[in-house]
Amino acid sequence: MPQRVLTTESGAPVADNQNSATAGVGGPILLQDQHLLEKLARFNRERIPERVVHARGSGAYGYFEVTDDVTGFTSADFLSEVGKKTETFLRFSTVADNLGGADAVRDPRGFALKFYTEEGNYDLVGNNTPVFFIKDPIKFPDFIHSQKRDPFTGKQEPDNVWDFWAHAPEATHQITWLMGDRGIPASYRHMNGYGSHTYQWTNAKGEAFFVKYHFKTNQGIRSLSAEQGAELAGKDPNSHQTDLLQAIERGVNPSWTLYVQVMPAAEAADYRFNPFDLTKVWPHKDYPLQRVGRLVLDRNPDNVFAEVEQAAFSPNNFVPGIGPSPDKMLQGRLFAYADAHRYRLGVNHTQLAVNAPKATEANNYGRDGLMASNSQGRGAKNYEPNSYEGPVETGQPLAAPLAVNGHTGTHEAPAHTKDDDFFQAGELYRLMSEDEKKRLVANIAGGLSQVTRDDVIEKNLAHFHAADADYGKRVEEAVRALRED
Ligand code: HEM
Repeated sequence: MPQRVLTTESGAPVADNQNSATAGVGGPILLQDQHLLEKLARFNRERIPERVVHARGSGAYGYFEVTDDVTGFTSADFLSEVGKKTETFLRFSTVADNLGGADAVRDPRGFALKFYTEEGNYDLVGNNTPVFFIKDPIKFPDFIHSQKRDPFTGKQEPDNVWDFWAHAPEATHQITWLMGDRGIPASYRHMNGYGSHTYQWTNAKGEAFFVKYHFKTNQGIRSLSAEQGAELAGKDPNSHQTDLLQAIERGVNPSWTLYVQVMPAAEAADYRFNPFDLTKVWPHKDYPLQRVGRLVLDRNPDNVFAEVEQAAFSPNNFVPGIGPSPDKMLQGRLFAYADAHRYRLGVNHTQLAVNAPKATEANNYGRDGLMASNSQGRGAKNYEPNSYEGPVETGQPLAAPLAVNGHTGTHEAPAHTKDDDFFQAGELYRLMSEDEKKRLVANIAGGLSQVTRDDVIEKNLAHFHAADADYGKRVEEAVRALRED
């Protein structure tokens, strides 16, 4: 291939890319040096705002293949036939640190999956944990402020982290999970992914089911101890990125098996705890895992900025047969993500290659805005209804309607007969081996003992006591021992 010529952004040939133009030898630079001005100006604009959470991440393309018939539960076309394959893009992430943070840290991991289906893109934006810290979206900004860098000290503060948790007894389950053995995954390949929320599936007959998604890693779960994590985070801050990139480049394609738990919609109201409470799991003995298919990652993006940094997922992107549940956290997220994308990437972020539908096309009357590149075809009308064969509505809601009752108001999520914030944290603790309990207690005490106020420590200890007497006693003793040191 003949050597290509270097050009300006408008395509004109560049004469000199080593020396800027000056007024005479040794003189000041000329304003007419278009190549220099353009080069410096573009460089200044290379960064966009990082994600406010989950800033640091890695992504890869792949496919989802249906292995089991789930048409009794959902009419979603991409799940309609055993053997059907759908292209996907998955972005993994850590949550709390900024873009330049390290991978091997104790933090939940994001597991954001885009299915490029023939009925539009379906985004399932989950984590590697089946539960979360809070159950109302109104607390999310406060929660995240308390976990990220303090505006005065510029670093994460144990005082803030634990002060928030002192006021959030519902976080005890997720804290127990995070401080336990799975809290620092060895890599993105060696962890599970969960939809975490309860979603709604609707079948062709219009029958509704509530579902929870579980992606089980086929690489096996591997985690790091606190010491191993600290060492690796220092040695190779990009350890997760390196691992994922190299595995796929070597053709060792990671995969996950998708299972769902399925609850017929009529059972939700009388279930012994609120099935839409994101701080709780559904016991498998009540709702066993049913296999759906296999997710495989087999292609690295060509450009990390274009495809990973600009990837935009929204829990509000559903396809026919799948919809939201009344989980308040999920409802808050239905707004938050596309709003973040409009701020960070602009109103036309859905036209970027990684975000645009691949197996169908977007046809609507949305127009213009910053960086619009989609003309929707010559002469296409930009209003609806019209007499020119523009796209028309289907009259078919994507999912079944959700039942509602009562009055508007700032209500707490409804409590069911067995609802409390601690029993599942206690169950998780009691499931652990003696060694795992020791590591869990040491991890919690390591953080909690750094808190400067006794009342904040006491409030947190009360949560562990409420989960399990032995759990509370051991954390209390460990914190006291560390504070006496
Ligand atoms: C009300 C609660 C929540 C709010 C308001 C919220 C909001 C956000 C926002 C604004 C972003 C940045 C989006 C972007 O700039 O691209 C984000 C990213 C993310 N969130 Fe949440 N979030 C919430 C809860 C959750 C929960 C419960 C999960 C998991 C179950 C989750 C998983 C993620 C993931 C995986 C990402 C990164 C997506 C990507 O890779 O681009 N979030 N969240």
